Amino acid sequence: MNRGRPLPGWAVVVLVVLGLTSCSSDETAEKGDPLAGKRLFASEGCDGCHTLTAAGSKATVGPDLDAARPSAARVLAQLRKPGGIMPGFADKLSEREKGDLAAFVGAADGSAKAVVEPFAPDDKRLADCRDGDGECLEQAFGNLVYSDGPKAALDVLQRTLQTNSALAADCHRIAHRMGSAALSRFSDDVGTAFIAGSPVCASGYYHGIVERAFLGQPTDRLAIVARRLCSDPDINERPFLAYQCIHGLGHGLMIYTGYDLPASLKTCDDLRNGFDRVSCSGGVFMENFNSSYGVSSKYLRKNDPIYPCNAVAERHKLYCYLLVTANILRIENGDLKKTADACRRSESAWVKTCYESFGRDVSGTVGKDADKALASCRLAKRNERDCLYGVSREIVNADASGERGARFCARAPARHRAHCYEGVGSVLASLESTSEALRARCRALGGRHTRSCLRGAGLA
Ligand code: HEC
Repeated sequence: MNRGRPLPGWAVVVLVVLGLTSCSSDETAEKGDPLAGKRLFASEGCDGCHTLTAAGSKATVGPDLDAARPSAARVLAQLRKPGGIMPGFADKLSEREKGDLAAFVGAADGSAKAVVEPFAPDDKRLADCRDGDGECLEQAFGNLVYSDGPKAALDVLQRTLQTNSALAADCHRIAHRMGSAALSRFSDDVGTAFIAGSPVCASGYYHGIVERAFLGQPTDRLAIVARRLCSDPDINERPFLAYQCIHGLGHGLMIYTGYDLPASLKTCDDLRNGFDRVSCSGGVFMENFNSSYGVSSKYLRKNDPIYPCNAVAERHKLYCYLLVTANILRIENGDLKKTADACRRSESAWVKTCYESFGRDVSGTVGKDADKALASCRLAKRNERDCLYGVSREIVNADASGERGARFCARAPARHRAHCYEGVGSVLASLESTSEALRARCRALGGRHTRSCLRGAGLA
């Protein structure tokens, strides 16, 4: 893959959804509609008195809401008060409108900005930490990066994971902190820190570097910083790193803006090409659905699991829907049947995409058990083929090779088999650098379905 030439749509789609299955999860906010709140903030004149970056306002009559970071409850209380120094909105706005404003203004969680503090080494060691003590483990692994370098430290993390399953729940966050520690070790040299890394724990290390690199930047400069950040030649030469950098940028934007989805997507839109814009927005949606820090994004609703995919601009829908079942699955406490049913509530043009997302999550949930994956895809009923397609792509992604994906497709119901092999081909296309190599791979794997594999790869 070469970022100099335009990438076909499938390659972008493949990359954007890499690795979501191992991100951590959190609770879901259920309140007003922050998008409506944002409009009210302007139409009710709040922006004439308050500074709030998410609203683009810089007025100084009332308190600076970026600095105050009031909770949603505090915003509600303020709006329900009779007028005082601030004009009264108690009777002027409906309770629903107050709730929308509270959802928009109320900080998702006060911890959002604290997590990007620079890493400060101390003398805590792994042996000092009990299982499940995430904060201790994060610091200890960070110390290891700082003293021994990221490569050695990430190897220790990888090895520890194999023997200690309790670590899995914390590993993405630990890897984030290790990225931050690497920047401290390398005096903020993003390129050097990136090259020394590894994708263990859903690439948390890379995300950690990027989010930390925003530190101290004013929000209106984020797009400039973002454009510069991943253009380091050391990163750009390697497609996998380039992707991780831009995708990590999406995560980092959400974390840095305090989970401001519109502002984060807008910064992604300002990146230089389609590949970058889309990879970035994938990171934004992933962070929205599965926060790296257990923060509840404002842009989630428990009673509307499809949100915000049904509210974002058309150009952002594909990447939102390709990840949406990560959100549904969490709301449904991991129940695959309920998750499959909920996909029907997608906007009609996007039902199919929701089931592809479902396939990705099925694969992440049932692991290597092909029988369970086949049975789970039957839950998608008339969209079974879309689920199988999602499964095969995720398998090829995870293995970075096509054998197991092809074996899976060979067992799929005959009428869906061709589409399943297309999924295999679509991911192989992002792994092979020449079309000759790609053709050879499809031929080796596809048997009777070589043509389907080639079609998925964009070669037939
Ligand atoms: C005419 C100027 C003005 C307008 C318009 C205005 N405010 Fe205020 N706001 C103030 C002032 C002054 C205070 C501090 C007064 C106080 O504490 O009673 C304040 C306080 C607040 C606080 C409490 C901040 C804290 O730290 O606790 C919130 C939240 C708030 N405003 C939100 C809003 C929202 C939302 C709107 C629009 C619906 C709005 N304000 C419109 C002037 C304004």
